[in-house]
Amino acid sequence: MIDEHLKARGIVDPRVLAAMASIKRENFIPDKYLVDAYGDHPVPIGSNQTISQPYIVALMSQLCEFSGTEKVLEIGCGSGYQAAVLSRLAAEVYSIERIKTLAESSGIRLLQEGCLNVTVVHGDGYCGLPERAPFDVIIVTAAPVVIPEKLVDQLAENGRMVLPVGDSVQKLLRLTRMGGEIITEDFAYVRFVPMVKGYNL
Ligand SMILES: C[S@@+](CC[C@H](N)C(=O)[O-])C[C@H]1O[C@@H](n2cnc3c(N)ncnc32)[C@H](O)[C@@H]1O
Repeated sequence: MIDEHLKARGIVDPRVLAAMASIKRENFIPDKYLVDAYGDHPVPIGSNQTISQPYIVALMSQLCEFSGTEKVLEIGCGSGYQAAVLSRLAAEVYSIERIKTLAESSGIRLLQEGCLNVTVVHGDGYCGLPERAPFDVIIVTAAPVVIPEKLVDQLAENGRMVLPVGDSVQKLLRLTRMGGEIITEDFAYVRFVPMVKGYNL
C-alpha cells in the first residue's frame, strides 16, 4: 500500500507515510472485506458508509501540513481509520460522526488501537464543535454541497481545512485562514458519500 498506492502517486510527507505504515488498516475493515484491506479503493463499513481509499486518506492528511502540535476536528469518523492516522500526526483529535452505531464502534476501536488522543463525538458535523474551537486543522470526510460556514468560523488563524465540496463528483479543496482572509486552493476531483444534516439517536 505504501509503495504502490501512496509513494507512487506523490505522497511524500514522511510523517504521513510513517503514520499510515504504523496503523493496521485491517483492524478498521469488516471481516467479510478483509481481503480488500490494502486495496486502493473504498470499502463498505455498514450503514451505507465506506472507509475511504488509502490514497485519499494520505492526500488529505498531506494537504493538512501537520507539524505535530495541532488540535484537529474531523467530520465523519466512520470506521475511525482516518482519525487513527490523525492521532499520529497531531496533538489532539476530535472526530464527529452522525450515525450512532458507527460513533460507538469507532470510539471503541480507536481505544483498542491505543489512539488515546482521539475523542469521538456523536453529533452533526455541520455544527462543528464550538466548545473546542478554534481548530488548527479541520478535515471533512463526507461531501457537503457548499462549504459549511460554521466550520470556517471554527478555523484558527493559519488553520487549514481540507474538504470535498460538490454533488456526485466533488472538488477537493484546502481553505487557509491567513490574516483574516480565507485562501482557497483546489487539488483534485474526488467522490465521497454526502455530508448529511442532523444525526440519528
Ligand atoms: C467516507 S465515510 C468516512 C470515512 C472515515 N473518515 C474513515 O476513516 O472510515 C463518511 C462518514 O461521514 C459521516 N457523516 C456524513 N454526514 C455527517 C455529518 N453531518 N456529521 C458527522 N458525520 C457525518 C457518515 O456517516 C460516514 O460515516
